[in-house]
Order: sequence, then C-alpha cells, then structure tokens
Amino acid sequence: MQSITNPLESRIALITGASAGIGCDCALHLASLGAKLILNARREKKLTELAQRIDDQYPTADGSSRSVIVAGDAADQSVIDEMMNASTQLGAQTPDIVVVNAGRGLNGSVMTSDTTQWEEMVRTNLLGAAHLIRSAGSKLVELQESRDWPEGGASDLVILGSTVGRHISPFSSMYGSTKFAVNSLAEAARRELGPKGVRVTLIEPGIVRSEFQQVAGYDEQKFGELMDSIEPVLTPMDIARSIGFIVSQPAAVHICDAVIRPTRQEYP
Ligand SMILES: NC(=O)c1ccc[n+]([C@@H]2O[C@H](COP(=O)([O-])OP(=O)(O)OC[C@H]3O[C@@H](n4cnc5c(N)ncnc54)[C@H](OP(=O)(O)O)[C@@H]3O)[C@@H](O)[C@H]2O)c1
Repeated sequence: MQSITNPLESRIALITGASAGIGCDCALHLASLGAKLILNARREKKLTELAQRIDDQYPTADGSSRSVIVAGDAADQSVIDEMMNASTQLGAQTPDIVVVNAGRGLNGSVMTSDTTQWEEMVRTNLLGAAHLIRSAGSKLVELQESRDWPEGGASDLVILGSTVGRHISPFSSMYGSTKFAVNSLAEAARRELGPKGVRVTLIEPGIVRSEFQQVAGYDEQKFGELMDSIEPVLTPMDIARSIGFIVSQPAAVHICDAVIRPTRQEYP
C-alpha cells in the first residue's frame, strides 16, 4: 500500500544534471516524497553539498545516506553504467525512476549560434539522453518483467524536453532542434516501453529561471526583458513538483506528456 505522505518511499530515483536548476530541485522534492537518489552532474562539489542538504532535511530511518553521487559527463557510457549500478549501494538492483535531465541551451539559430558549441550540445542533449534511455529502458523492462502487474509497482523514465521541442524558438532554434529530437525519442520510447509496463514521460517546460540562461549565452538585456514581460517565470521547483506528482501515480496510470509554461508565456 502506497503511503500518502511518502509515496516514493520504496523507490530509487536517478537524476542527471542534479547540481543545479530543475535536477537539483527534483532531487530535493523526490527526497521529500521518500525516494532515495542517485545524483549525477559534472560538478562534484555541488552534488556533495546537495547530498548533505538532503540528508539533513530528509534523514532516513536507519541513518544511512539517502543518496549516492556519480560525478561525470552524463553522455559518457561508462558514467551511465556507473549511475545505473549505483542503486546496489541503496539496496536495489536498479533505480526505478530515471530522470533524463542533463542538458544545455545555446543562443541563436543555425545561422547565428556559436558552431564551436554545437557538438557538445548535441552530445549532451541528444546522444546522452538516447544512451541513458537505452540503458535505463532495458533495466526497467527487466524490473517490470520480474514483478506482478500492476501491483508490483511503477517504473519511470522521465525525459526533459521543452516547449521549443514542439514550437520553433525565435531565440534558440539550434538548441530547439535538439529538443525536437528528444521529444520524438521520448514518444517513440513510450510506445516501445509502455506496453512492457514502463512509463516514459515527456516534460516540456517553458521558461524556467535557472543557470540555463547564462550557460546558453542569452543576451541578458533582451532575454531579461522578455522574462520581465511575463513575470513570474517558472522556478525549477515548479517543474520538480509536477514530476513528483506524475511518478507518484499508481503504476497503471500514466500522465505521458506535461507542457508546463508560466501562465503569461504565449510562445514558444
Ligand atoms: N530553464 C529552462 O527554461 C528550460 C526550459 C525547457 C527545458 N529545459 C531543460 O531542462 C533541463 C534542465 O535545465 P535547467 O534549467 O535546470 O538548467 P541548468 O540550471 O543549467 O542545469 C543544468 C544541469 O545539467 C548539468 N549538466 C550539463 N551538462 C552535463 C553533462 N554533460 N553531464 C552531466 N550533467 C550535465 C549541469 O551540471 P554540471 O555543469 O555540474 O554538469 C546542471 O546540473 C535541460 O535538459 C534543459 O534543456 C530547461
């Protein structure tokens, strides 16, 4: 029977890009719902601080740490293997929530964006996501095959797409092209894995204030004016709460796709 206050207490969530923004708040929120965590990003110090904060705020009953850190590039297969295997340190063969979140933006179009950043962006946003979907997908299917359906419980692949993965972005169409690809990968994975009992959920945020804007190199004044005109824009915790709600549903209930915009964001 699922607990109302801690609906994720028997679950382990792997989150890439957990050192900042949506990934960081997702880790905090899923911990508040009872999940244990595998935390990934490249900045190890930030992950260590986050893990400590989670242990202080949400201590486990037996005093063991609620999370394991796997620092490194989330597009690197050896890091992905390490992340997937880290769940044994938390008492399970595999994580049963995998949040494919690590990603970065890039200001400009195919004509105007900095070409020296294309490969890293495509590698992180698209290839990294695809490798993790593949590795996690096969483990989650094995997990579901070993359980009674649906009483045995849910397993989730949650993938961060974007509204610019369904509508053309006026300021970052090159980044948008990676998210169009991610959006299509997520729907294809849902069709392939859903019948095997694995929920594949696409989260499509609109504008969320985080480190994202600075990493992408958006013009501070121009983008700042846009954000001011639709204030308040979303916070990372707004997205984290939606993810927590979705993965807390009973195993046979799937909210497949969530588009989450600031109310006053008209486009994209
Ligand atoms: N913010 C928005 O408006 C918005 C809108 C729609 C969709 N999204 C998507 O939501 C996701 C999270 O964005 P955010 O707003 O939280 O951005 P953010 O604040 O910049 O956080 C990005 C996270 O990804 C990590 N990361 C980047 N490259 C990585 C790599 N190669 N390997 C491992 N970790 C990596 C970063 O940590 P390290 O630097 O420590 O590695 C950081 O923890 C992204 O996929 C983004 O495209 C964001």
